Amino acid sequence: MQQSVISLNLLLKAQLGSAYQLMCYFNSWPQYQPDVGDMKLDDIDPCLCTHLIYSFAGIWENNITVAKRKDLDDYKDFNDLKNRNNKLKTLLSIGCWNFGAGSFITMVSTPKSRYSFITSVIKFLRKYGFDGLNLAWQYPGCYGSPPRDRHLFTILIQSRYLDYIQVMTYDLHGSWDGYTGENSPLYKSPIEAGVKAFHNIKYIMDNWKKKGASPKKLIVGFPAYGHTFILSDSTKTGIGAPSNRGGHPGPYTKKTGLWAYYEICTFLKNGAIEVWNAAQQVPYAFRGNEWVGYDNIKSFHIKAQWLKRNNFGGAMVWAIGMDDYTGSFCDQGTFPLTSTLKRTLKVHSASCQGTALPANVTGSRNSSSGVLEPVLQQSSK
Ligand SMILES: *[C@@H]1O[C@H](CO)[C@@H](O)[C@H](O)[C@H]1NC(C)=O
Ligand SMILES: *[C@@H]1O[C@H](CO)[C@@H](O)[C@H](O)[C@H]1NC(C)=O
Ligand SMILES: *[C@@H]1O[C@H](CO)[C@@H](O)[C@H](O)[C@H]1NC(C)=O
Repeated sequence: MQQSVISLNLLLKAQLGSAYQLMCYFNSWPQYQPDVGDMKLDDIDPCLCTHLIYSFAGIWENNITVAKRKDLDDYKDFNDLKNRNNKLKTLLSIGCWNFGAGSFITMVSTPKSRYSFITSVIKFLRKYGFDGLNLAWQYPGCYGSPPRDRHLFTILIQSRYLDYIQVMTYDLHGSWDGYTGENSPLYKSPIEAGVKAFHNIKYIMDNWKKKGASPKKLIVGFPAYGHTFILSDSTKTGIGAPSNRGGHPGPYTKKTGLWAYYEICTFLKNGAIEVWNAAQQVPYAFRGNEWVGYDNIKSFHIKAQWLKRNNFGGAMVWAIGMDDYTGSFCDQGTFPLTSTLKRTLKVHSASCQGTALPANVTGSRNSSSGVLEPVLQQSSK
């Protein structure tokens, strides 16, 4: 048992060279969204990140398995990106919010089921050419997973053998709060007290450090999206303004309460007022009764400098498909947010033999869609 766990984590070799990691999620799920909402493997720039993480795989009878409705060829093609960047590492992610806790609860429950999972993971990763596993159980010991799972989780992973711990320093405010707030603020809002004063990157990362995690293993989460709100009173537009629901779905991501960065760029081009939230070092924007708290090039740069000053291990981005990967929405080039991290963290790509395929902004990726109005019906107060 012990041996299997060690092997699992040794699949990742030490990263020599670039001082900081830039770990990028490729979310394979938006496959039914229209146009740019569905990023293809060909759209990935293999020279952008130190690690590319394919999300997600599934669990079937305690074994790792291909995600529902996905093709195993996807895994192979994804790992073929390493032919164009010989320093690139690929990880397979298992879990996520929608995945639920059920399969994890069963899998960690006995030595036999844990053994089956671990053995299957090692075989699976080697078979498809992944360099490691990214475990995204949300979350052991809460949201339906019983308290004992906290302990079973530590038996499963034996934390000191982990190469990295990615901290999800986003989704810190959203329409569920009942008032406007930033998705991923670096610092606390002056108006928040009590437990809400913990909802910022600085508090969360310092807390991991204080509890004993090695800073070099801690990876700070960066969102390439924002959380949207419908203002209850369109004359109250600051942080903490009353709101009781999420904003209208974006034209591509089609989810209430969330816009990809490229959808936010369209909002800004169409008359939204952008405000730099100096206290928290992130922007927000509003127009009419629509409000979004998000990140841009400036906030990514500031946060990346902050993580360097604090000796953290690097950055992870959820998800590169929500960055303006075609470059056709924001007029900031391709992958403007992720490229900012690459530059600020000085992630070298000198060893990157290949080049990115040109973004497919012709054909089905209709470049003029970049200036289309997103769904912005004004709703009644
Ligand atoms: C689970 O994985 C183990 C180890 O790879 C294998 O022996 C077993 O047959 C698998 N079980 C199922 C149901 O696929
Ligand atoms: C670009 O889009 C067109 C039209 O959908 C498609 O035929 C072509 O294969 C795409 N090219 C690449 C490199 O993805
Ligand atoms: C691209 O979008 C424009 C504006 O909506 C539309 O008029 C045009 O027909 C589209 N072209 C293609 C090839 O889809």
